[in-house]
Amino acid sequence: MEGQPAWISHIAPGAHLMRNLPAILDGERDPLQMLLDGGAAEQLRRFYDLHPVCRFHNRVARALLEQIVAAWPADRPLRILEVGAGTGGLTAALLPVLPPERARYTFTDVSAFFLDGAQQRFTGYDFLDYRTFDLDADPAPQGFTPGGYDLLVAGNALHTGTEIRAALRRAAALLAPGGHLLAFEYHAPTMLLPLFGTLDSFWAAAGDPDRDAAVMIDRERWPALLRDCGFPDLVQTGDDRGPAAADASVLLARTAADAAPAAEPSPEAVPSARGRHVVVAETTGELPLARATAALLDRHGAAAVRAAHAAQAGTDPALWEALLRGDDDGDHGDHGDHGGPVTVTLLLGDPDTPPAASGDGPGAQAVEQTVRRAAILRAIALAYRRIPERTGRSLVLVTRPSGALPAPERPVAPTDAAVWGLVRTLANEHTTVDTRRISLERTTPAADAAVAADAHRLVLELLAPAARTAPRRTRSP
Ligand SMILES: C[S@@+](CC[C@H](N)C(=O)[O-])C[C@H]1O[C@@H](n2cnc3c(N)ncnc32)[C@H](O)[C@@H]1O
Repeated sequence: MEGQPAWISHIAPGAHLMRNLPAILDGERDPLQMLLDGGAAEQLRRFYDLHPVCRFHNRVARALLEQIVAAWPADRPLRILEVGAGTGGLTAALLPVLPPERARYTFTDVSAFFLDGAQQRFTGYDFLDYRTFDLDADPAPQGFTPGGYDLLVAGNALHTGTEIRAALRRAAALLAPGGHLLAFEYHAPTMLLPLFGTLDSFWAAAGDPDRDAAVMIDRERWPALLRDCGFPDLVQTGDDRGPAAADASVLLARTAADAAPAAEPSPEAVPSARGRHVVVAETTGELPLARATAALLDRHGAAAVRAAHAAQAGTDPALWEALLRGDDDGDHGDHGDHGGPVTVTLLLGDPDTPPAASGDGPGAQAVEQTVRRAAILRAIALAYRRIPERTGRSLVLVTRPSGALPAPERPVAPTDAAVWGLVRTLANEHTTVDTRRISLERTTPAADAAVAADAHRLVLELLAPAARTAPRRTRSP
């Protein structure tokens, strides 16, 4: 201890548990509570930050991340998902080497318990968001877009997947083609036994072919496991000399660069759509996406769907009312649920005809476009007032990236930013209408497959759990 003071980070939480071992074994104390309650959580944080094995491997992971960042195109956002982030030991090592203007880091854990602490700890970094994510469940119904990340990070968290192969395949599916996985994994159970050995989750399920007694996976098993589960390219680091060689390692793996992103969500990967959906293209250029989105919503259980051009109703609330009610023909699907919720999704696009050259300049054109959009939004809100109260009335505005969100959003269509503000005002004035805003970066080059992929991402966002009320941004891989 005298020569190695950092080991106190290991000994202190272990001693805390061992002192209470009889009460734990008698079932009088819950070991998980004892690891998390009061000062114990701080001890756990110190363990993941300061324990020499954690520190060494977190630094190795940081050095590898520096290389990834150095090779990353300067104009491309870097979308990172950390799973099982817990007290944030690995996060703290990685954040300083990320480019704040381009990085988007989603910090997750299966338990919401860790999110507040992480938010306080990483308050200086404004490119993080904090959510729950369970490696044991399908990502899409949890609101995580398949192919939506460039890098998946995990500090001693991958092995928490109960069915490890299914969990790794889920992780691979979350990555864009050629996406990276950067993981630090402990392999040796003996070192962790005094800390976590009294938890049921420390022990492997009987008969698990990838594990021995404990839930951790042997160093030499990882490469084959990752290759089998969607990561054909990988390197594994670690101390290959001393007696601790097999204790832990860092794994850097990639999904296949040519893996096609799923153009069509599998039925179980998308939560079911409810009620009536009207998907409206502001301009002719957006009609293919409106139609593809409506078709997907139809396939995923919407009671009725309609794709329309905004010019059909213009700024007349009565015409919007007809669209919302489905009075005019042209609806697809009619599953007898017209009393259910109604959702209007409005896709903004470039004007059908370029504005005539005028002396007023682009500023005046942007004002004119914004005024017209405000009138359309108002007409939709008024139309909602004319139809009977339903269980839900939603208005979803889909813009191109406009610069309204913090970096790394790029201002592809800056005039769309004004409508973000308009929708907030509308939400205040029409409190019975739920509003959402989605910034959708389109897949390029535009082609049928690109429209299908964009519709897929959009539908996943539209059907994400209702709790998600904050503005959303979805990007192409
Ligand atoms: C060994 S700890 C990792 C510690 C963390 N990376 C750190 O540096 O503080 C494992 C973490 O995985 C989380 N976890 C457990 N089961 C999970 C699951 N099914 N999906 C995602 N995370 C899970 C736990 O809540 C815990 O925070």
